[in-house]
Amino acid sequence: MTYRPLLIYVSPHWKFAMPDNNHSLPAAPRPADPCLMVIFGASGDLTRRKLLPALLNLRKRNFLSEHTAVIGVARTELTHDSFREYVHEQLQMFCPEFLEAGDWERLAPRLFYVSGQFDDPACFAALAELTGRLNAQFQTAGNILYYMAVAPTVVREVVRQLSEQGLTGQKNGAWRRVIVEKPFGRDLASARELNSQLLAYLDESQIYRIDHYLGKETVQNILVLRLGNGILEPIWNRRYIDHIQITVAESIGIESRGDYYEQAGALRDVVQNHMLMLLAMICMEPPNSLDARVLANERVKLLEAVVPLTGETALARTVRGQYGRGAVDGVTARAYREEKNVSPASTVETFAALELYIENWRWAGIPFFLRSGKRMPTRSTDIVIQFKQAPLRLFGEQLCEHIGPSKLILHIQPTEGITMEMSAKVPGPQLRTRPIELNFDYQQMGKSPPVTGYETLIYDAMIGDASLFHRADAVEAAWKIATPILEAWDQTPPADFPNYEAGTWGPEAADLLMEAEHRVWWNAPLPAGHAQLAEGANGQTVVTGSAVGTVENR
Ligand code: BG6
Repeated sequence: MTYRPLLIYVSPHWKFAMPDNNHSLPAAPRPADPCLMVIFGASGDLTRRKLLPALLNLRKRNFLSEHTAVIGVARTELTHDSFREYVHEQLQMFCPEFLEAGDWERLAPRLFYVSGQFDDPACFAALAELTGRLNAQFQTAGNILYYMAVAPTVVREVVRQLSEQGLTGQKNGAWRRVIVEKPFGRDLASARELNSQLLAYLDESQIYRIDHYLGKETVQNILVLRLGNGILEPIWNRRYIDHIQITVAESIGIESRGDYYEQAGALRDVVQNHMLMLLAMICMEPPNSLDARVLANERVKLLEAVVPLTGETALARTVRGQYGRGAVDGVTARAYREEKNVSPASTVETFAALELYIENWRWAGIPFFLRSGKRMPTRSTDIVIQFKQAPLRLFGEQLCEHIGPSKLILHIQPTEGITMEMSAKVPGPQLRTRPIELNFDYQQMGKSPPVTGYETLIYDAMIGDASLFHRADAVEAAWKIATPILEAWDQTPPADFPNYEAGTWGPEAADLLMEAEHRVWWNAPLPAGHAQLAEGANGQTVVTGSAVGTVENR
């Protein structure tokens, strides 16, 4: 195994990011295959915030082939030139730090545009004509990567239209691949239907179901930490671990995505995909190799061992929440029901907490607590592995503070690192103990250049490495866990929404869920100077701390 610095390490099948120590760029990255990348939904949020910056980043770091061009497809009427202007504006707005002298000039001539409706054959005929021309002009060998940055309901139609125009067939060594964004279906039945619809036009090997969490460096590092260090694997099981918690906390609300979020909710938006994949990475059996198929097999095997929560059990072992008004870091936040394109009586959850069990040899009987919420006090994704207490309370209570269980905390974002919480003796003649933290911050290995998290995944799709993408059976296994919970929730609408204040760690019921199992949530410490909600002298809610409060106005 050789490490490639910066963005991506490429063994035949597996990669992870390793910033190098002297901050230099990779000596000679293997450029991706020549290709056209066609983005459906070119004027959307994902394209502006993630895909275009990621392409720019790949281009400037020489991960793209010289024989690459990008075609945006969307409903908006634009010419190639006005699309280039639009892209330039978006890059300046969303990733000015990526734009260095000469970058834009190198990217601009490779951008093209087709406007039209996604169900209009004329749009796809124009696309067929343009791809033919550009394939010849840029000598792409006929390879095309399609990115579906569109609503899931449209994906099937776009693929059908592409197929009708002969744009999905792989001939003469040319490849045609399709990246499909989440949500992949909205329950088990619709995910199965979408899978079979896509398979009517594509081979499974052409479908890349993306989950941007699998592109995050620290998520990929989970396996390295677990399997590259001999001391962890022997204790990575029910004999030594008391329980595991995964928190994906976001301080943002739903931003301008009311339409989408009303159809989704926290369980579909984050838990069914990102969080269950984190669970799989933490708990799966060590793979025999790093082959994409072998890794996917292990992820699926793990997800299939999660005991589905149904009916009454689902209600007892899950908590739903929706934020009301409050303040996040000193900024007044409106309630979810007051957001744009959200029903004033909405019962959609913006918070979900689950207590899951995995029925296999390694994990039987150990609880796994997952929670995710919008408008929590801070943005923080952490995995807490809490070990069992020492078997003998050898140190008396009197001189020692309570000796808590050891915890290994994997900080996924925004600060990437590892903390080991343990107990140690306070120096001095008396036997006194106190909790200590051993901390490792990934920044110590060198500061990585800014990335969007999509670079690795786009690059992988361009070289045909599917190890960080979901196979159909993994998506379906995750829906088998989420669907019965959604059904139980649908049958019993929540009576107490909104049930948590924006800027807090979620509804009280989530704490009670833990309490019932004699455990507590680990909450990320708030950054220094973080504003807190406090009770004013007259009982009014005031914001304290150093952050300057402004009323959010969206
Ligand atoms: C997306 C969800 O998949 O993930 C968003 O649709 C969420 O609602 C986002 O905010 C979180 O991603 P990240 O990378 O910011 O943790």
